[in-house]
Amino acid sequence: MTNSILVLGADQVNSALDGKETQIIETVKNTYLFHNEGQTALPQSIFLRFPNNDRNRIIGLPAYIGGDYDIAGMKWISSFPGNIERNIERASAAIFLNEMDTGRVMSVLEGSIISAKRTAASAALAAQYLHSNKEEDSIGLIGCGRINKEILLFVKSVFKNLKTVYLYDLSDDRMDNFISWHDGCDYTFEKCQSIDEIFSKTKLISFATTAGVPYIEEISTLTPDHTVLGISLRDLAPSIIEKAHNIVDDFDHVCRERTSIHLTYQKLNTEDFVAGNIADVVNKKVAPRADGKASVYSPFGLGILDLALANYVYKTSVEKNLGTVVENFLP
Ligand SMILES: NC(=O)c1ccc[n+]([C@@H]2O[C@H](COP(=O)([O-])OP(=O)(O)OC[C@H]3O[C@@H](n4cnc5c(N)ncnc54)[C@H](O)[C@@H]3O)[C@@H](O)[C@H]2O)c1
Repeated sequence: MTNSILVLGADQVNSALDGKETQIIETVKNTYLFHNEGQTALPQSIFLRFPNNDRNRIIGLPAYIGGDYDIAGMKWISSFPGNIERNIERASAAIFLNEMDTGRVMSVLEGSIISAKRTAASAALAAQYLHSNKEEDSIGLIGCGRINKEILLFVKSVFKNLKTVYLYDLSDDRMDNFISWHDGCDYTFEKCQSIDEIFSKTKLISFATTAGVPYIEEISTLTPDHTVLGISLRDLAPSIIEKAHNIVDDFDHVCRERTSIHLTYQKLNTEDFVAGNIADVVNKKVAPRADGKASVYSPFGLGILDLALANYVYKTSVEKNLGTVVENFLP
């Protein structure tokens, strides 16, 4: 029995995950399938909010994965959108891993990289299964921040022809920054002036904004061929969601905290507007598309995904002798 823990910072997390997009998407897919089979424990996330401040929050996502994983843990992730003006990232996170013989903490990992990568892998998985044009060569990114940057990387690993990227952000600077992050990459970027314009240019769209309240009541250029990755969860009004073919990661998780799915549920008082979850699409139990409807993916972002990736990073780091062992961390 050891009293030490292994601390893994951004460098070790990056070294375990960089360039592993295909493998991460596969891990995320298998974790969803595992969850669908009831091999996980996933209580609701805890939202810590602050008096007189509805912008900032910290979320705790506890989770357990059974089977060969047999691992428990929690991601503790803050969102302070004002950080962008300070030139630091909006989100900051730590992930705790507990082993299951004694329940003791065995590792603390930097969590924002894992969180961004599992989010992007989930978006790419949905794009792969929901989007009908398997030769898609363009994407529209609404919100030009960290998450859409990662989504572009992961979607590119699925749609190899992807080369034209349409951008839309409230901030012109953020679009310019986004383009400069990709200096040397083989993409053509085009900035759009509106949501309607970006939907008119491409059929594959990813929302990763920091909008807290849905602000889009109608999109005149939305067609039944569109696939919308609604990663930020609070962009589309119920008037759009109720007419779409909706796929979620887990309905009980995403139907909370005034997400677009939650607001639509409150409006319609039924969950019939949701076709099913992504694992059922992978298993071919739920159709990826429906006649006359755009497909919209709304993933809450499940703690089991963070746990599966953190476990992978932990194991890889132990094998390679990476990270900092803190002796006598535990009493
Ligand atoms: N569902 C999930 O699993 C999951 C996981 C991680 C993050 N997220 C969400 O993804 C979102 C983006 O995260 P990020 O780290 O990239 O944030 P970020 O702050 O780096 O970037 C967000 C960008 O959105 C822009 N924006 C805000 N409101 C807009 C609007 N109405 N129209 C167009 N652009 C707008 C901002 O100017 C900013 O550039 C957050 O809402 C976060 O909560 C979801």
